Amino acid sequence: MSKTTAVILAAGQGTRMKSALPKVMHPLAGRPLVYFPVRAAIDAGCTEVVVVVGHGRDLVTRYLETAFANHHVRAVVQETQNGTGDAARHGVDVIDHDGRVLVFYGDVPLLEAADVAKVLAVQDNALATCVVQDATGYGRIVRDAAKEVIEIREHKDLRTDAERAIREINPGIFCTSVAFMKEALAKLQPNNAQGELYLTDIVSHAAKSGTHFFAVDSRASVLAGINDRVQFAEAEGVLLNRIADAHRRNGVTIRAGARIEDGVEIGADSVIDQGAVLRGTTKVGAGVRVDIGCVLTDVVVEDGVTLKPYSVLEKSVVRARAQIGPFSHLRPESDIGPDAHVGNFVETKKTKMAAGAKANHLAYLGDGVIGERANVGAGTIFCNYDGVQKHTTTIEADAFIGSDSQLVAPVTIGAGAYVATGTTVTQDVPADALAISRTRQENKAGYGAKLRARFKAAKAEKK
Ligand code: UD1
Ligand code: CA
Repeated sequence: MSKTTAVILAAGQGTRMKSALPKVMHPLAGRPLVYFPVRAAIDAGCTEVVVVVGHGRDLVTRYLETAFANHHVRAVVQETQNGTGDAARHGVDVIDHDGRVLVFYGDVPLLEAADVAKVLAVQDNALATCVVQDATGYGRIVRDAAKEVIEIREHKDLRTDAERAIREINPGIFCTSVAFMKEALAKLQPNNAQGELYLTDIVSHAAKSGTHFFAVDSRASVLAGINDRVQFAEAEGVLLNRIADAHRRNGVTIRAGARIEDGVEIGADSVIDQGAVLRGTTKVGAGVRVDIGCVLTDVVVEDGVTLKPYSVLEKSVVRARAQIGPFSHLRPESDIGPDAHVGNFVETKKTKMAAGAKANHLAYLGDGVIGERANVGAGTIFCNYDGVQKHTTTIEADAFIGSDSQLVAPVTIGAGAYVATGTTVTQDVPADALAISRTRQENKAGYGAKLRARFKAAKAEKK
């Protein structure tokens, strides 16, 4: 296959977004807008992608470098936005082969590889066209008596009612030889209503020199450019449905109202419930239950795990069959072992729990290492921070930490040791020992009644 470069025009500011962020960097389903056309070009088989950037160029360039590090994607700067023709010139200028070039706009998030491939499949000059109900704002496809495409007339340049009545529009995908594109772009003149260089004028240039663009009938619904936040929201809705349906076809139950962003992986027979949010590099195994309202960001969840309602997990690993929640908070670098339990109002950070370990209620477990089958009681706090440094709490296998204990790190509780309820542990506890640090209880007979009488008398005196 000959070389094919895609040139994606994305230098515009996106004024209607009313934002400090350039339009192409606004996220949809977890990825900046510009991701989608670049992805479509790569998936359609383009060997190189050139993105023409302008507004927010540093941000866009840096994003492209990281997101597409393994592909031939590069940014070219268009200093001033003199129109789509000028932008295309900048992009095409850097192409150093004599294969094919595809030019399209960067504000089309719903475009898929198939839409690009359809235009690419034509060996001659080709452009996508589609028929829409309301053609306001679009360039109109003008055909001659023989139905050949001879021109694209921009909305602002329409002259007659017959032209205004045209409902076949230019969604903006062009494919030609590199040689033709370079020659046609060199001839552009800004003699139009906006005083800009129009990419679309390459069509009349071709017609005048006796060649025509082949019109590829395309899907209007996916090729609409998006310009404001209302259109962003609509497009995102479509994208999220597409993502959810793809998971459903792979055997995942996705309940209405779950939000699964682009790039998340989920195994078969998992159930993702209402209000759950899965995003970033999250990977969920098979047979996992993600219950209502859970939020997973960059998390790995292995097979058979149960995440009970409203658990929040970030940059952590949950191993096979573990149970988390309801209302658990796993902060970065938590690693919850197979069959382990983390219960309600337990917060972990940089803590590794081995197989079968349990912390079922109300605890803060920061910078910890917890051994197999160890049990951490309600109200346990790992005092990991001295105001300057973080220290590690180590609990060895089968140890038992009684409720309401404070473990002042650095400290180690040996295998099989007990920490009595209410103990403040400041020294290491040897294996199989009992650590207890609390004053002995004393019961004073009859003292309850005596106290009550005294308090009542005090109240009566006040009146
Ligand atoms: C363009 C087309 C119109 C088509 C419509 C489809 C032209 C002249 N018009 O109009 O026929 O129906 O898209 O949505 O091509 N851009 C640059 N540099 C510039 C100007 C624009 O990179 O100097 C980029 C923008 O960032 C955007 C794309 O080109 O991604 C389209 O530009 P825009 O101004 O939105 O064109 P439209 O007026 O919508
Ligand atoms: Ca547009």
